[in-house]
Amino acid sequence: MEKPAIKPTNPCFSSGPCAKRPGWSVDSLKNVMAGRSHRAAPAKAQIEDAVNRQKALLGIPDDYLVGIVPGSDTGAFELALWNVIGSNPNGTDVLVWEAFSGDWCKDVEGQLKPDNLRVFKSAYGHIPDLSQVNSDHDVVFVWNGTTSGVRVPDGEWIAADRKGLTICDATSAVFAMDLPWEKLDIVTWSWQKALGSEAAHGMLVLSPRAVDRICNYKPKWPLPKLFRIKKGDAINAEIFKGATINTPSMLAVADCLDALDWVESVGGLEGTIARTNRNFSVLKDWVVRTDWAALLPASEKIASTTSVCLKVVDEWFESLGGDEKAAFIKSMTKLIDKDGAAYDIASYRDAPAGLRIWCGATVESSDLEKLLPWLEWAFATAKSQTLQQQAA
Ligand SMILES: Cc1ncc(COP(=O)(O)O)c(C=O)c1O
Repeated sequence: MEKPAIKPTNPCFSSGPCAKRPGWSVDSLKNVMAGRSHRAAPAKAQIEDAVNRQKALLGIPDDYLVGIVPGSDTGAFELALWNVIGSNPNGTDVLVWEAFSGDWCKDVEGQLKPDNLRVFKSAYGHIPDLSQVNSDHDVVFVWNGTTSGVRVPDGEWIAADRKGLTICDATSAVFAMDLPWEKLDIVTWSWQKALGSEAAHGMLVLSPRAVDRICNYKPKWPLPKLFRIKKGDAINAEIFKGATINTPSMLAVADCLDALDWVESVGGLEGTIARTNRNFSVLKDWVVRTDWAALLPASEKIASTTSVCLKVVDEWFESLGGDEKAAFIKSMTKLIDKDGAAYDIASYRDAPAGLRIWCGATVESSDLEKLLPWLEWAFATAKSQTLQQQAA
């Protein structure tokens, strides 16, 4: 098979950090408050702007708190877990179906050890039965499992009159999928995903019930300064008004504001969701007409539209051992990488050997179209090379 002549304009298809917005360059950071204190009025105003514009663009209810905290999505989600887990005597349910949800479970089960803990696990490509979640319990889950390409289908399974809190890592869903904010009590994300911005900081959203719970709970464990969001028994409201816990990167803030300008220019949330869905369709339609590729998710209903995970369904590939499969994917992605046609498209290290291609809004659908012949060429080339090696 001939090597394709046309490459994607932007070969960045990593699922995090994700592609910068079309047209981005370092010149986009010209408004950075370089060398200024983050507490100085113009710098603090930029931080507040980043918070307020995300809140408005995402349609987060007015009475929810939104803040910037340290440590990207991990920092924000860990902060949430360590402030709230164990506060619900009815119980805590944790949903696990890929690597990151598994990591949160390790913290809850292995470190925080709340009473009445229930863990619902399923294998890559699947999702636990959501009807098992008890709405009186707190529930810890990811909206979009970035490493398996499986997401929750919607928020229908969450009771509107729940007593428990929904604690949701939505990092690869925010700005790409509709989120039912009224059904979510604690939500986190990072700017490095659908915004194509920097990973430095995490976003933390708290519903009024989450605030109430945090204020009335004193965890059994000490909290490091980086996780402290209370002043005495009250929430530290300043953190949600641009006065961050510690020093943020003003360069990252400037980049986030640039990403938000771009989101506004493509029609806000509706625009970024439409772009994501269009991107997903490009891959999905290709999978339908390609006999060796399939979506890893068991059904389209639970298929992520951002971190699209593909498995190889070729009979010969299936006959290979685990290490051989991984080596084959490596040789395939190396071929594409070497020509600068696409970077970072192998599946996550703990996931089944396959491909993972980011389809968030910062990716152009025309680039995905240009990527498809490269996938076909790389598959055919790597297969014939491997067969030759096997025969030798
Ligand atoms: C679902 C999920 N949670 C958490 C993380 C960790 O994010 P970060 O490295 O921004 O903290 C990722 C990163 O890929 C993710 O996909």
